[in-house]
Amino acid sequence: MAAIDCAAGGRMWLLHTASTSYALALTAQDAPKHVHWGPPLTLTQALSVVGPDPEPANSFDGAADGLEELAVDGGPRFGPPSLQVRFADGTRAFEWLFLGHEIVEGEGEALLRLDFRDRHYPLQVSLSYRVLDGVDVIERWTTVTNSGDIDVVELLRLDSAAWVIPPRTGYRLSETTGWWCAETQARRGEIARGETVLTSRRGITGHHANPSLMIDAGDAGEEQGEVWSAALAWSGSWRITTARTSDDRVSVTGGFGHDGVSWRLQPGETLATPKFLGLYHASGFGGSSRAWHDYAVKHVLPHNDEIRPVLYNSWEATAFTVNDQQQRALAVHAADLGVEMFVMDDGWFGRRTNDDAGLGDWQVNRERFPEGLKPLVDQVHRLGMRFGLWVEPEMVNPDSDLYREHPDWILHYANRQRTELRNQLVLNFARAEVADWALQWLRELVGEHGIDFLKWDMNRAFSEAGWPSNTGDPDRLWIEHTRAVYRIMDTLRAEYPGLRIEACGGGGGRIDFGVMARTDQMWTSDNTDAYDRLEIQHGFSQFYPPRAMAAWVTDNPNFLTGRTIPLPFRFHVAMCGALGIGGDIGTWAGEDLAYAREQIQLYKEIREVVQYGRLYRLSPPAADLTALSYLSPDGDRAVVFGFRTAGHYGRADAAVRLPGLDPAAQYVDEDSGVSHHGAVLLSHGLTLDLPAGDYASAVVRLRRV
Ligand code: GLA
Repeated sequence: MAAIDCAAGGRMWLLHTASTSYALALTAQDAPKHVHWGPPLTLTQALSVVGPDPEPANSFDGAADGLEELAVDGGPRFGPPSLQVRFADGTRAFEWLFLGHEIVEGEGEALLRLDFRDRHYPLQVSLSYRVLDGVDVIERWTTVTNSGDIDVVELLRLDSAAWVIPPRTGYRLSETTGWWCAETQARRGEIARGETVLTSRRGITGHHANPSLMIDAGDAGEEQGEVWSAALAWSGSWRITTARTSDDRVSVTGGFGHDGVSWRLQPGETLATPKFLGLYHASGFGGSSRAWHDYAVKHVLPHNDEIRPVLYNSWEATAFTVNDQQQRALAVHAADLGVEMFVMDDGWFGRRTNDDAGLGDWQVNRERFPEGLKPLVDQVHRLGMRFGLWVEPEMVNPDSDLYREHPDWILHYANRQRTELRNQLVLNFARAEVADWALQWLRELVGEHGIDFLKWDMNRAFSEAGWPSNTGDPDRLWIEHTRAVYRIMDTLRAEYPGLRIEACGGGGGRIDFGVMARTDQMWTSDNTDAYDRLEIQHGFSQFYPPRAMAAWVTDNPNFLTGRTIPLPFRFHVAMCGALGIGGDIGTWAGEDLAYAREQIQLYKEIREVVQYGRLYRLSPPAADLTALSYLSPDGDRAVVFGFRTAGHYGRADAAVRLPGLDPAAQYVDEDSGVSHHGAVLLSHGLTLDLPAGDYASAVVRLRRV
């Protein structure tokens, strides 16, 4: 059970998660130092490891570097600061003065807040920690307040938290990096001495690095070994720095804003960071992933009691050429296949007939939809499906009425170019009138048409991110923009409780725990090639749960890679997440439609296991034989997916061992009726009966008897 103890005269705290402990204490100088993050300890045990305050080994070392809960710029500290301030008189160093703490134990959670102030200047800093019943993720954030009434305090860096990794050797960092159409590629390597920075300077979470990482001591595997992991719940620009000192201390500090972004904290103003989440797990990378999924499903994703519907999206079928008749025809085909949510993508508004015009003019294109959207929405509803629509609220094409009317609404600098990417510019949502405008048209659109689902897209990075009319503190747009996006999503959801949202950032540019708290699923990648997807989905699953991972079955040859892959393989890869169909189903052959109907039906039978189950990755990514298994929370059902991308030399496929099963139980294959011993599946594995050839796949459903 989540709980927090306090000892040492109110100067040491021990946090209990479901199966781990975390401890911190104050030094004689009132600085918060890290004590323990790992297996459960009692209070007495934790007290025994507090130890004396760190002493410098020589006149060049920072004794506390890599050991603090939030390293400040101040005193003999030489690592990356989590908090760096400049006061009005130019003083930069922060000196801790402890004011007190509060522990609030509520239903299913416990919260610890430590309050500090600077010894001289009017700046208050609070560190918050939250633990939740049944999970091991610890949520941390920092709040600062300018408690003076005259001077501004400049915040040069304000991270959410620093995570200290216990003393080990052989540290490795696992991260997911990539690019557009190649998101979340999992990488693992030794941590370099010095600093390793993962960051986004793009104004969004970004395709190039995900704000999440895992650290182990070089000895963890998929299902064994200690792993410390962290993820930032934020969808704007960010920075996470992993520091490894020469004497092998490792710590991670992270927060919103990238290097150089500052915030002028006005007298009386408070700034709270997003959450930086941490997890210790003793069962390897796979165990850590399952613990993150569990946290996401129980505490982050809204509506955790709801199964994700099978959706159809028209983007790859129709691109920008949508019209009423064609969409209605697609809707009939989709309903016939068993689709539950029909989503119309880009091209329905303004003069948006390709990507160089119309963004910002969110009125229905009457040439394409003479009676508006209502007839299409009604038809989709009559067919028994929900209706979804693509929007990209943060963007404008210069060729739009909106831009002609409000050229100052975009991010820009005086005397600088306004660089276009994908022919578009970014609206400055930090400006209240811009965010209000977006909320207003979105609420009218959703309300007037009875829209059930929005695909909220964001298709370019920030550049020339200025705000000329805000001469005092333009940098705050980096944070305020994202906050406005969150606020609009939250408001829409509150006003339309039935509305569901998909986060999309030109594919997987917005995948993080911040956006996940206000959306229902995330668009994983614009790359829908089933072969490439195996790797992208492998990376996605390191932190994010299958039920939030949108995956479509699309056409051959793939628009991006030109690859041709059999329909079963394409289906099975997409069935590993929240299944969608994205092909031009109006042109599919009868046998493909029949197969699709069957597979959608199969997915509906297994999706509870896929969307709520425990995921075991049974092979490394890009292996010739990739296998995954999902085990239902009660352990009664398992769904195993096998993918042979390439066979070699006529060799038989190796059996795949299925962790997590009950060795004493029998499991019956629901299709063949063959019965298997749990102990044998665990130790010798299951031989997947894959068809011959490359791109062969199978789904096996096992039930405990
Ligand atoms: C982005 C999305 C795609 C599609 C297009 C529409 O690239 O990721 O799925 O919606 O925009 O322009």
